Amino acid sequence: MTIGIGLLGLGTVGAGVAQILASPQGRHPLVAELALRRVAVRDLQRPRPIDLDSALLTTDPEAVIDDPAVEIVVEVMGGLEPARSLILRAIAAGKPVVTANKAVIARYGEEIAAAAAQRGVYVLIEAAVGGGIPIIEPLKQSLGANRIQRVSGIINGTTNYILSRMADEGAAYGEVLADAQRLGYAEADPAADVQGGDAADKIAILAALAYGGSVPRQAIPTNGIDRLDARDVAYAEQLGYGVKLLAVAEQVGLAADGAAELDVSVNPTLVPRAHPLAGVNGVNNAILVEGDPVGRVMFYGPGAGAGPTASAVVADILNIAGIRQVSGVTSQGQPAPLDPLLAAGSWRPCRLVDPAQTRHRNYVRLRTTDQAGVIGRIGTCFGDAGVSLQSIVQFQAQGGDGGQAEIVVITHEVSEAAFRTAMAAIEALPVVDHVAACLRTL
Ligand code: NAP
Ligand code: HSE
Repeated sequence: MTIGIGLLGLGTVGAGVAQILASPQGRHPLVAELALRRVAVRDLQRPRPIDLDSALLTTDPEAVIDDPAVEIVVEVMGGLEPARSLILRAIAAGKPVVTANKAVIARYGEEIAAAAAQRGVYVLIEAAVGGGIPIIEPLKQSLGANRIQRVSGIINGTTNYILSRMADEGAAYGEVLADAQRLGYAEADPAADVQGGDAADKIAILAALAYGGSVPRQAIPTNGIDRLDARDVAYAEQLGYGVKLLAVAEQVGLAADGAAELDVSVNPTLVPRAHPLAGVNGVNNAILVEGDPVGRVMFYGPGAGAGPTASAVVADILNIAGIRQVSGVTSQGQPAPLDPLLAAGSWRPCRLVDPAQTRHRNYVRLRTTDQAGVIGRIGTCFGDAGVSLQSIVQFQAQGGDGGQAEIVVITHEVSEAAFRTAMAAIEALPVVDHVAACLRTL
């Protein structure tokens, strides 16, 4: 039984999906039953990496959804609108949706899930996080028996590619970003990658699945790599760390009303060389899930690009196609009840805790006067605030007038409130010129 697929978008990911559908040999037999019926693009004249019958192409995405031959809608156009409205239109028409659009799911996931549950259709999102890495289905299904304590990872391929090449080759930031765009890793607006927004979208999605309720996307504290100084990467290296853009979601409490209290954030972070995330380089992503009773499970693989992302999109299409086959449902028939694990609805509220109440290790670089007693005064400010230090090191200041030093401090795990108190006192010291960098440390 052939299943009609409608594609919204034929860019990096859409073309990757079309390529898989066009070459089913050697893949699961269900792939051969998927037939591309319509494809929406913005520009009909744009050259494509795949040879498609031009009659399939349209610039009207609604026509794709409304086409009776389209049974599953695949949204890979990106952006918030019209993507959100098109997903809702497909759901209203009773058509299951597969999307790679983390920006839409992180912001409108609740609305979309409610509409899908009411209409009895699946909306599957494996490609939205981690590119080709299976992480959404494992969180929904294979790890469902666990109390999840922490989900942390490198979940933006573009920034990991940039950081890796800067560290390995000393390559220039702008040049490597241009390469990431050419390779199809970056978002249409790469600010989403380098400012951390894409990783924040993804950790919002992972947290919602891991903890059972939606997380307020706009409230996630987010710092990207766009203001990261190469000097901090070099100092980190000398101290035994690599710098990675880490997204973290951790349960820190359980409220009286049953809500999970979460610390969720995205930050450039010093990762000790021996940590499993430190060896994740290039466009690869890795997600470390810590749960009770499973312990630590790490998912690793290519986090962006046409082939890996299309692999995840087609896996979702196959999931839906398989269910339709066993339930015998056609586009005209009544939908079968949804599998609650695959549909993954919310089962409790989730709240972000006040960042001042969270606890972390920190890296700080201070530009100071180079004179006797400076390290002592800085140490006293930390000590007075109850901030315990792991190390404090002086480096030779670069580009200064010779009378300045750079002091690099790594703290033990301390409360954010105490850390802020110490930093306010340090900034007020006459010997401190300015705080040059403040990063997290694992
Ligand atoms: P892309 O290369 O920019 O492709 C977007 C496609 O959508 C293009 O074919 C474009 O048409 C079409 N399109 C955009 N707006 C449209 C509109 N209003 N009407 C009709 N067609 C429209 O983007 P991408 O990299 O494939 O990413 C697609 C989605 O997948 C995004 O949500 C992205 O975040 C997500 N994603 C991407 C990757 C990756 O590695 N690239 C990985 C995971 C998830 P034209 O070709 O005519 O311009
Ligand atoms: N721009 C994203 C990244 C694509 O670099 O990770 C994959 O979601």
